[in-house]
Amino acid sequence: MEAPTKNKKLLAWVEEVRAMCKPDKVYWCDGSKEEYDRLMQEMVDAGAAIPLKKRPNSFLFRSDPTDVARVEDRTYIASPTQDEAGPTNNWTEPVALKETMKGLYDGCMQGRTMYVIPFSMGPVGSPISKNAIEISDSAYVVVNQDIMTRVGTAVLENIGEDGEFIPCLHTVGAPLQPGEKDVPWPCAPIEKKYISHFPQDNLIWSFGSGYGGNALLGKKCLALRLASAIARREGWMAEHMLILRLTSPEGKRYHIAAAFPSACGKTNLAMLQPTIDGWKCECIGDDIAWMKIRPDGRLHAINPEAGFFGVAPGTSYSSNPMAMETIKENSIFTNCVLTDDGDIWWEDMEMPCDHGIDWKGREWTPESGEKGAHPNARFTTPASQCPVICPDWENPDGVPIDIFVFGGRRTKVMPLVHEAYDWDHGVFMGGTAASEPTAAALDVKGLRRDPMAMKPFCGYNVADYFQHWFNMGDKLGDKAPRIFYVNWFRKNDDGKWLWPGFGENARVLKWMCERVDGKVKGVETPLGRMPAAEELDLSGLKIDKADVDELLRVDTDALKAELDDLDSYMASFGEGRVPERMMKQVAEYKKRIGA
Ligand code: OXD
Ligand code: MN
Repeated sequence: MEAPTKNKKLLAWVEEVRAMCKPDKVYWCDGSKEEYDRLMQEMVDAGAAIPLKKRPNSFLFRSDPTDVARVEDRTYIASPTQDEAGPTNNWTEPVALKETMKGLYDGCMQGRTMYVIPFSMGPVGSPISKNAIEISDSAYVVVNQDIMTRVGTAVLENIGEDGEFIPCLHTVGAPLQPGEKDVPWPCAPIEKKYISHFPQDNLIWSFGSGYGGNALLGKKCLALRLASAIARREGWMAEHMLILRLTSPEGKRYHIAAAFPSACGKTNLAMLQPTIDGWKCECIGDDIAWMKIRPDGRLHAINPEAGFFGVAPGTSYSSNPMAMETIKENSIFTNCVLTDDGDIWWEDMEMPCDHGIDWKGREWTPESGEKGAHPNARFTTPASQCPVICPDWENPDGVPIDIFVFGGRRTKVMPLVHEAYDWDHGVFMGGTAASEPTAAALDVKGLRRDPMAMKPFCGYNVADYFQHWFNMGDKLGDKAPRIFYVNWFRKNDDGKWLWPGFGENARVLKWMCERVDGKVKGVETPLGRMPAAEELDLSGLKIDKADVDELLRVDTDALKAELDDLDSYMASFGEGRVPERMMKQVAEYKKRIGA
């Protein structure tokens, strides 16, 4: 097929990759519906996709059981020196890594089609957006990218004859011998998987996995790991944050960007339905925010993605009704249960399912003793289908951010909400944010420090990332967003949730808005400013006064007991590596809690 571009750099790169990977053919994607339907039909015919009778234009895929999630220990930041990558990243020397990977790439697409996917992160042509090209030998990647990004000819036109693009190379790493029959989900064994980033070359090389963030290279690889490094160089921010618009009964708008680690409810908060009268919430993004200081001096955010790649288990009409409405049609499901009537199902969906086929393709009933859907089963669905998508979600100028929120999953210690005394204190709060371990990430002393929820996604040394945050605060001055920290996950000693969460979280967001407007004063505590008991709007909520007191209690003894962990976290960056301004915050915090 003839290449639909005259961009010499792009043509040369595609030819170089073709010569190395040796596909049977090269196909340039145009992002059309006709192309999407055709590729999907080919996958249905090959037995890789199952059309869902109950959901129009929706399909179920089952991955290889060894290829189910992001592989953090096979994910590399290959900057020239280890110090540039820092202690939170797997560093490896870029020249040697490229040699190893070139060896793997040699002939890796044999028997397959090499798809060239032009895509834009962010609305095509926005001053905050970036153009990129993903080369992949997976049609599953093409259809997912069609939903998650803006794919097509308009992107090639925007790149033009001499424009820039970020090259992203992906292969499932499973060449086919002549006559060999393909499997439904080709991939390479774990020791051959590499998700490599070369921040100095703006380059991504991914080998051996077909799943999510390992393969849809616009998302974690480009929009976070590479973009965070680019943003530092260019003076903007690429963050693991949802973006929402909250509108008060008086019609005042507040834009909130919130960073929580993976699987801490970002998608739920992004589509929140407030339970308090007159407040309205609209979703702009559920995972990533790109933010630049615009001519009004404020920080404006866009969602660089075009779809939601959400964790399916736990999503229900009570936890996230708007997500359930979004995924009614035109969606891709991966590793869910297939029900007997041709629908999908997962744990905690709050729908009955007595019998089906599980994510491994076996007969399943609730008595099977194993989960039917993989815990990291996903839906891929267009953001435009979300009933509460904000009319400004594709505004090329973004939305001005008023409030940043950090948080993590803590069943103990951390109160419901507190506010930073100033920007630097907020950077300390976000930079030291911690979550209790999940099965995926066990850490020393039961805490996983996840700075700004970017631990797996910051493409450079987190110590330098802290400094970048301080620098942004200096540039923003009094136009900087206010910073808060929340914890929806407190439990009492009997293991019962203290806070109802979900739509009720709007009550906490309302307090933040009132703080921004100076309507409430809060009370000073060693952690930060917290709501005075009467300042939280609890009208119509059945909650014990004692539970509210506990949710707003600052336990300085418990905080002191975590100081060793805080010190060793700071020390992990190396002697003198963490910025002075951060160490000053640590010292002030210790003083406030009486250590
Ligand atoms: C995601 C993640 O998929 O954070 O968004 O892992
Ligand atoms: Mn995420």
